[in-house]
Amino acid sequence: MICDNLSVKNGHLYFAGRDTTELAARYGTPLYLMDEERLRRNCRVYREAMGRSFASALPLYASKALACRRVYEIIAEEGLGADVVSAGELYLARSAAFPMDKVFFHGNSKTDEEISFAMDCGVGYFIIDNADELAAVERIAAEKGIRQKALLRLTPGIDPHTFAAVSTGQVDSKFGVPIETGQALTFVRQALELPHIHLRGIHAHVGSQVFTSQVFYDTADIMLRFMAELRDKLGYTAEILNLGGGYGVRYTQSDPVVDIAGEIGKVAEHVKAGCAALGLPEPMVLMEPGRSIVADAGLTLYTVQSTKTIPGYRSYVSVDGGMTDNPRYALYHASYTIEPAGRMDDERDFVCTVGGRCCESGDMIQEDVALPRLQRGDLLAVLTTGAYNHSMASNYNTVARPPIVMLSGGRDYVAVRRETFADLAAREL
Ligand code: LLP
Repeated sequence: MICDNLSVKNGHLYFAGRDTTELAARYGTPLYLMDEERLRRNCRVYREAMGRSFASALPLYASKALACRRVYEIIAEEGLGADVVSAGELYLARSAAFPMDKVFFHGNSKTDEEISFAMDCGVGYFIIDNADELAAVERIAAEKGIRQKALLRLTPGIDPHTFAAVSTGQVDSKFGVPIETGQALTFVRQALELPHIHLRGIHAHVGSQVFTSQVFYDTADIMLRFMAELRDKLGYTAEILNLGGGYGVRYTQSDPVVDIAGEIGKVAEHVKAGCAALGLPEPMVLMEPGRSIVADAGLTLYTVQSTKTIPGYRSYVSVDGGMTDNPRYALYHASYTIEPAGRMDDERDFVCTVGGRCCESGDMIQEDVALPRLQRGDLLAVLTTGAYNHSMASNYNTVARPPIVMLSGGRDYVAVRRETFADLAAREL
């Protein structure tokens, strides 16, 4: 099993110590299950390792991975901050009584309305993406008579696909302001001149599903060198360095297991050494893990509706969900592990494509999966779906989105209920 919260008993898949077939029978499918203990454990790994390793640090949960009120509550209880990317996420976080001073507002295209709303919520920090946003935040902060704490988002020039530092050429990204072109220096200078902006530091995010710390070493090197340049050229010492998103997770057996605590320790050593070499005081370090907080705390259950074999081609298994609750295969050809939740001990001699229910050929969950010869009514479990599934779900084909049921210490409870027909029609006039 790819994660230790999974096990098999009497041919049934157990998740967080619970029989998934019983939960499917009780709540119906498609169904998102979340293992609360695992979620909390993932939070603690970051909080404890960062607290132990850096002079000062805070992990921020990147809530785009899974934004719901219960998750914000748990994240707050575990002492993490949160990264939000829209007024909607901010609204949900606030409705969960998330401490606003620990919320960091991201996004490359914040509207005046969102900026104003975030300030009215008392959001801790804006992570300002560009010069237009900087001007808007200054203007709106002035109108409200406040001085807004902020970080500036910079692009360190590391290719997010290869994670290799790009030494030449244009830094091509819609996010942030590039260091390499000299624009970042101007951006910082402008921010320092604005009376209603309290610039506390800088931010960079290189990529997601990161398995090696090399990308964090490279990011830290470039950012620390830039901090030294800011000190030398502008007399400004950044107090906060935000290194962006967290480590990768295991979707399949072939994905590596990351010792996150150990890796964070190494990143901290690297940052310390870099600061010492450049004569910089150690900044407060932030990271923004999303996927590695929630992914393996989640699993999706489906019921098979049909199987179909096209001789000489392939076999299709269609389930009662699909790209509406998990668009990641359709979008990225993402890998997943699929288990026959009620037939775990059966021989897996049926190679098939697991497809969704939507009217779109690309609506698949996975291809070439070895499963038992399935029948209508069998259950399938797709593992590691806690991140970027519910948060990317849609109502395509006017399909209702599944509920999120939390599992905690032998207890199960609904955190987000299943959408109803009334919900689907709620915006109609
Ligand atoms: N911080 C920033 C600024 C980000 O853009 C992201 C992810 C994160 C943190 C969190 O990164 P993580 O720890 O989750 O790797 N929808 C895609 C993922 C998009 C990630 C976007 N940014 C997927 O389903 O794989």
